[in-house]
Order: sequence, then structure tokens, then C-alpha cells
Amino acid sequence: MNYLLTLVFLFGICYVRAEDDFLPDYIQPCNLKEDDFAKCVKQQIEESLPNFSKGIPELGVPSVDPVNLDDILIDGNGLKLKFEKAQMHGLSHTKLTKLKVDIGREEETINLGIIANLSLTAKYNADGKILILPIKGDGDAVITCKNIEVEINSKFSHIKSNKGMHFKLVTPNYKYDIQSTTFEFENLFNGNKQLADATLQFANENWRQLMDDLAPPVVKQIVKTIVKAINKFFSKVTIDRIVNGYKQKS
Ligand SMILES: *[C@@H]1O[C@H](CO)[C@@H](O)[C@H](O)[C@H]1NC(C)=O
Ligand SMILES: *[C@@H]1O[C@H](CO)[C@@H](O)[C@H](O)[C@H]1NC(C)=O
Repeated sequence: MNYLLTLVFLFGICYVRAEDDFLPDYIQPCNLKEDDFAKCVKQQIEESLPNFSKGIPELGVPSVDPVNLDDILIDGNGLKLKFEKAQMHGLSHTKLTKLKVDIGREEETINLGIIANLSLTAKYNADGKILILPIKGDGDAVITCKNIEVEINSKFSHIKSNKGMHFKLVTPNYKYDIQSTTFEFENLFNGNKQLADATLQFANENWRQLMDDLAPPVVKQIVKTIVKAINKFFSKVTIDRIVNGYKQKS
């Protein structure tokens, strides 16, 4: 009986461990004291990105591909454009373009650059004009962004749990750049193909002006999604587990 209780008890501990503070086996801690710390972090992020972006259910880290976006409403310059049930696809094929991590100092910062081909699918509703051409309709929309590059700058703050200290990224600054964008809107002008083709062609030729309105709310949600996933991970895994030789600032 005692033996059984011990077994149940041990199993309970292991289970709790497995639930909470552990690293998936595709992530290894890096040694802060070593010269190649920056290189190690970069390599860890590069190698774990495809897995990480699919989520870590055991840690409650959500998948970021696809990710549901909040409704997007553009209302201005004579155009009312609404996207509902929007989803962003492609973040799991993100590549790293830049990484600078400064930790173990007074001010701890991260500068992260990513690039991806992303597509947004949604139900759209449009009424008004884009620049000079009328647009009206509702139906399925696909917006494809080629090589969208997002650079995120953030600071680390610290959070204490009963397991130890954790990192947390504070609200980041970011900027972005997009190489090109194509729009597909089904069912424009009640399916009048001639009108629809003309407007779509015009939209695609003038994608940059359209994206001036459209990209900011979308990129904001992308950044929010990424930071949320990273912070969920940090909230479950202590600093000691991901960084060897980290000295606590008191
Ligand atoms: C990481 O991703 C690869 C490729 O999709 C997969 O084969 C592997 O099982 C994943 N590893 C974990 C621990 O999920
Ligand atoms: C995006 O797609 C193009 C091909 O259309 C490819 O050349 C490029 O490498 C892709 N970018 C990324 C970040 O995967």
C-alpha cells in the first residue's frame, strides 16, 4: 500500500513537472557566460521556429499558424472596407533576418527581425472608392503579402512565480516593410466581371496606397500574436531553464 502511494505521489510530481516548467526537446538552453551566447540564441530560435509556431499545447502556447484576427474596419478617404472572420496564414514559415539579444545587464533588450510570405483570408464588405475607382461587394477575400518583414524592438521585464523568475516582453516598438501585395475579392459588383476586373487590377497596381490603410491594423495584430505566444512560453518556463549562468538582478 505504501509502495503504491509512493508511486502515485511520484507520478503526481512528474506529471506536474511535465505540465509546467520544462523545455520541449527541440530547445536547448544557452550559456550566457560563453562568447557564442548570441549565436546560440539565434540558432535555437531558427531551429525551433517551425515547431514553436505550431504551438506547444503542454505549455498552453497557442499555434500562430493560422491565427484568427480581430475584425478589421477601414473607414476613411471615401472607402468603407470591413474584414470579418479574418485569418492569417504562413507565420510558421517565418525566417529570422535579425536578432540581437542583450541580457544580464541593467537594461535587457531584444531586437528581432522576421520575414515571411503571409496571406490573409476573410469575408470582406466593401463600399466606396479606392483612390478613383468605385468598389462595392461582399464575399471572400484573399490578400497575399510577399516578403513582409517585421522588426520588433522590446525590453525584457521580470516576473516572479513560485518556480522562479521569468522573462516577459513589454509592449514592443515595431516597423514593417512589404515587398508586394495582391488582392483577390470574390463577388465584386454582384459578380459583374468587367467592373470587378477593372477595380481589382487597379487595386493591385496601387497596392501600396491601399496597404497604407490596411497594413497597420494587420501588422499590429501579427506583432501582438507573436509577443503573446512568446510571453506564454516565458510565463511557463523559468529563466534558469533557458539561460545557463544567468545572474539575477535583485
Ligand atoms: C518538430 O517538427 C518536426 C517537423 O515538423 C517534427 O517532425 C517533430 O516531431 C517536431 N518535434 C516536436 C517535439 O514536436
Ligand atoms: C516568399 O516567396 C518567394 C517566392 O514567391 C520566395 O522567393 C521567398 O523566398 C519567400 N520568402 C520567404 C521569407 O519565405
